[in-house]
Amino acid sequence: MPGMKISGIGMCVPERVVTNHELEPLLNTSDEWIQQRTGIVERRWVPEGVELSDLALTATQEALEAAKVKAEDIDMIIFATLSPEMCFPGTGVMLQAKLGIKNTPALDVRNQCSGFLYGLAVANGMICSGMYKRILLVGAEIQSRGILKIPQGRDTTVIFADGAGAVVLEQSEGPEGLIDIYLGADGRHAEELCAPGMGSRWEGFVTQQMLDEKSHHPYMNGRTVFKYAVTRMPKTIQLICERNEIAISDIDVLIPHQANLRINEMVAKTLGLEDKAFNNIEKYGNTTAATLPICIYEALQQEFLKPGHLLALTAFGSGFTWGSALIRM
Ligand code: COA
Repeated sequence: MPGMKISGIGMCVPERVVTNHELEPLLNTSDEWIQQRTGIVERRWVPEGVELSDLALTATQEALEAAKVKAEDIDMIIFATLSPEMCFPGTGVMLQAKLGIKNTPALDVRNQCSGFLYGLAVANGMICSGMYKRILLVGAEIQSRGILKIPQGRDTTVIFADGAGAVVLEQSEGPEGLIDIYLGADGRHAEELCAPGMGSRWEGFVTQQMLDEKSHHPYMNGRTVFKYAVTRMPKTIQLICERNEIAISDIDVLIPHQANLRINEMVAKTLGLEDKAFNNIEKYGNTTAATLPICIYEALQQEFLKPGHLLALTAFGSGFTWGSALIRM
């Protein structure tokens, strides 16, 4: 059976930088609080008029160029996001239209911070079975229009941000490529981190009471999320290494999801990989499904991650959902 490798990668973040200082008067917060608790210094927000599929398109064009392929060569689009342009249809079809390609199937993945890993697993199944040769996997978010820019929303508003990352995935016959991927979910915690509106639970998808109370915006029980994230992420890395008979010390680079630097420091410490962990949360905050491809892109660009390296990815988020992957670059 063939394997699956990343043959091209691209990223896109809006130009507009929003510093912690800019949020201070809006949220009754402080640069010191945000940096100390999350590690975030600044993030990017899109200007008016920019759509999610625009960010995705720019990242995709770079990934296609790096892979030396055209949009027409893509057999399938997988689009991971928690901030789709509309309730339906998914944003994958909007990206497909902007790419100017017809008939290419487009699937939206709704697994929040684990969306990129879930998308990677779906692509792996399709590529390794021989169903498709080349898949475009995009993780993209515009969260700046969904977060609550008043003190009531300060716990989530300081964290979530905008960005996109894209990878071209292809069949691989050589040593490079995905070694294994582990996925998990526990729906008992669905309401610990969620955006209740818009949803079919409510007549009209959003109620007047929700609008008045602004409870249709993201809600997070930060402490519970923190507690589960710091245990699930290292545990799944340990598990995936064990079942592949790989020592954790053989991992060259660890890229954890970027939700909180303190979480990531604890994860790296638990695994003994402090010097091998790559983080960029200080610049971008939590771009959810876009985080992992953006990190892979920057780690490669900075030569922190190099061809031949063993890369470990791990993520945890709303659902709760989580996962880890091992990739030989
Ligand atoms: N600025 C200032 N104060 C804030 C704040 C902000 N942005 N956000 C929350 N606070 C306040 C709270 O109101 C609370 O005040 P109180 O003690 O007067 O009630 C106090 O800080 C402590 O709140 P708490 O939620 O317990 O803080 P925390 O130490 O848990 O840090 C998070 C909050 C969100 C940074 C942290 O819980 C976290 O990172 N959790 C995980 C996030 C995550 O992984 N999300 C996943 C996304 S996929």
